[in-house]
Amino acid sequence: MYKVSETPLVSKEAIKDRLEKLSEEINASGKYDILLGVLTGAYIYVADLSRLLKGIPKVAFVKASSYGDSTESSHNVSFQGLENLQLKGMRVLLIDDILDTGKTIFALLEELKKQGAEEIKTCVLLDKPSRREAAIKADFVGFTIENKFVVGYGLDYAGDYRTLDGIYTLEQK
Ligand code: IMP
Ligand code: MG
Repeated sequence: MYKVSETPLVSKEAIKDRLEKLSEEINASGKYDILLGVLTGAYIYVADLSRLLKGIPKVAFVKASSYGDSTESSHNVSFQGLENLQLKGMRVLLIDDILDTGKTIFALLEELKKQGAEEIKTCVLLDKPSRREAAIKADFVGFTIENKFVVGYGLDYAGDYRTLDGIYTLEQK
């Protein structure tokens, strides 16, 4: 059994402060034609961050599912929601909740390039570099964290805890 930590790893105030700084970094890098969030974990991050960005980008979401033999280190990722996006020539800001092994973002970048996106930058709320398996570095990172399982602010464990307003660690009961 698991329970959520009593104190947040990252409080809602710390998230708000960081998003203000991060949005300045993103705004300094230019304007984006479309913000593409990865469901479901990035839904709150996209909602908060998008309102701090300049320009009036489109907003879309893609659902990523990984499949294959879980005992193998390489798994496949499939996507839903990319069909009618028309990314040709677009500047895309790809937004995910957490960069863990990197396989999701790696596969998504391949797919977006294939669809003709002109430029793709990646933006994650959290980065767990110690777990990386694919050669991926995000362009914009909210917080770098240790190898702990975290929930809240959109992130879940088996569908639970997404609506917590800070980021909490999941601990053994
Ligand atoms: P990866 O980078 O392909 O390994 O996958 C990252 C995805 O795994 C994220 O988008 C999350 O959905 C999920 N994930 C990884 N670590 C955590 C965590 O600590 N809490 C909740 N979800 C996580
Ligand atoms: Mg995810």
